[in-house]
Amino acid sequence: MAQIKLTNVQKSYLDVEVLRNINLELDSGEFTVFVGPSGCGKSTLLRLIAGLESITSGTLEINGMVMNDVPPAQRGIAMVFQSYALYPHMTVAENMAFALKIAKKSSTEIDKAIRHAADILQLSHLLERLPKELSGGQRQRVAIGRAIVRNPSVFLFDEPLSNLDAALRVQTRLEIANLHDSLEASMIYVTHDQVEAMTLASKIVLLNAGEAVQKEGSIAQVGPPLELYHRPATRFVAGFIGSPKMNFIPGHLESASANQATVRLCNGAVVHAAVDARRAKKGEKIELGIRPEHFSSQTLESDALPGKVSYVERLGEVSYTYLSVEGHQDLVTVRNDGDTPHLANDQVNLHVPAKNSHLFDSEGKAFPRILGTGTAG
Ligand SMILES: Nc1ncnc2c1ncn2[C@@H]1O[C@H](COP(=O)(O)OP(=O)(O)O)[C@@H](O)[C@H]1O
Ligand SMILES: [Mg+2]
Repeated sequence: MAQIKLTNVQKSYLDVEVLRNINLELDSGEFTVFVGPSGCGKSTLLRLIAGLESITSGTLEINGMVMNDVPPAQRGIAMVFQSYALYPHMTVAENMAFALKIAKKSSTEIDKAIRHAADILQLSHLLERLPKELSGGQRQRVAIGRAIVRNPSVFLFDEPLSNLDAALRVQTRLEIANLHDSLEASMIYVTHDQVEAMTLASKIVLLNAGEAVQKEGSIAQVGPPLELYHRPATRFVAGFIGSPKMNFIPGHLESASANQATVRLCNGAVVHAAVDARRAKKGEKIELGIRPEHFSSQTLESDALPGKVSYVERLGEVSYTYLSVEGHQDLVTVRNDGDTPHLANDQVNLHVPAKNSHLFDSEGKAFPRILGTGTAG
């Protein structure tokens, strides 16, 4: 039985629909990440589960019980906010004790819970400090500690790292991953950052934005991180997961068999993709998708995409070459070795390996990929 189950959940504010057609099952112990562009409804979805917002229609079940009208404190969940929301006049220990005092726990019990959380979060030496005497990272740990002492069955995090600098973000990300392992609790984590989603999640729920919500509902795709990377269901998912983002090059379908499609791109180049595109008609408009890291440096006559180097970014370990391709207005991004010899204005011929290519129909739906053995996903 799923620990958390949402059935046909919909949320509107007055006449504005924010979430549509949410059907989702989350299992006990999972690390679920809700990810998507800003404004797509991630926080709203989390707040519906927490009970901080009401559900307009549909059902929320936690551990088999319908929770639509159950108050937040009785749902067995604890939430950690981006803004920390610590009480400024209370010490670290008092901040962590607060919810337990309200719940009328004994002082021995409260003391034990605080020591346990402080120990896990390395806060033991800071228990008597006020929030203003702590760094941003330490405040965030107190906010997490306040959730841990309540021993919830589900932790909810809303962009907990966004107020931290880059180095601290990476460190705290690892701490949250460790916390999940050591507490063996279920966690639901909201972020707009696909790197956080890829590194933390056992299951990603990618939310749609804009017109797609009307057509497909709010959920674009649900699955393990590498499933979304290797088998994105739509162009939107393909473009959201992976950095730098996938290139999309328009063209027409020349022919399709069960395991390969032949495509004529906008600049006349003919390439192949290991997909089953038989549901499309010959001559239909399609888009080829290829990630920057998936071009091959081999120069081959077949499946080559000619382009002109616009500029090269050298990051040391890697270089990103940006190419202009005839008939296509976006530059094509290619990931190369750090010492790539490419220079601006060079003519190059990129090899587009069929096994690495994705293909999307004019509606943005992916054709099924034929992945050989050895390719994850
Ligand atoms: N209390 C509210 N009243 C009206 N609209 C809201 C309210 N809260 C959020 N929204 C709208 O709902 C949409 C989703 O918001 P939110 O869940 O905060 O997005 P995200 O967390 O993905 O950035 C946004 O368009 C936002 O303006
Ligand atoms: Mg938000």
